[in-house]
Amino acid sequence: MTVAAQQQTHPDVDEVLLSSTQLAERVAKVAREIAADYADRQPLVVGTLKGAVVFMSDLVREMDPVPEGLQMEFVRASSYGAGTASSGKVVLGATTLSEADVAGRHVLVVEDIVDTGRTAARLVEHFASCGAASVKLVSLLSKPARREVAFEPDYLCFEVPDRFVVGYGLDFDERYRSLPYIGVLRPECYGGH
Ligand code: IMP
Repeated sequence: MTVAAQQQTHPDVDEVLLSSTQLAERVAKVAREIAADYADRQPLVVGTLKGAVVFMSDLVREMDPVPEGLQMEFVRASSYGAGTASSGKVVLGATTLSEADVAGRHVLVVEDIVDTGRTAARLVEHFASCGAASVKLVSLLSKPARREVAFEPDYLCFEVPDRFVVGYGLDFDERYRSLPYIGVLRPECYGGH
């Protein structure tokens, strides 16, 4: 199936919040802002698995000028399990990085969504404690209404309302990640609000 065919809204999606065109335009804009800011630094771009993978792959390809020495790495951060409510505890798991790789580097964490803010805050704190020269965070989405710890991303593509969203890398129970848009999941699909 082509992307165009897949883009017919999935039956479990109530409403498309952000179309693939809107995503592409905004991601390109933020990518250029980042590229300009990192023109004289070699960014260590660290994506969170698995939600940020789709966003990160588009983001790095839109960076212009191409940041010299850009490196891509990944870390697993989980707080959700198979539900839609955060467990409150953030666990950093498998990573392609060692502490030594981070020391002295300019780390740019790539997140899919800042919800309560716990994961983002934990990631920034973690890389700072590994001796990074700087740590910034870019997020595709933010739900300010849900914040439990004060955290604002350094770069943000979109603010979204307090609704459970899927697509463009975001999942519910490992489903819907490949949808090319951000859609609101029908509450009956997760037994939610
Ligand atoms: P936080 O620690 O509460 O900010 O949660 C961040 C993580 O929760 C994200 O990286 C997502 O994996 C997940 N998450 C939060 N809201 C949503 C959503 O609406 N859809 C899918 N995943 C979400």
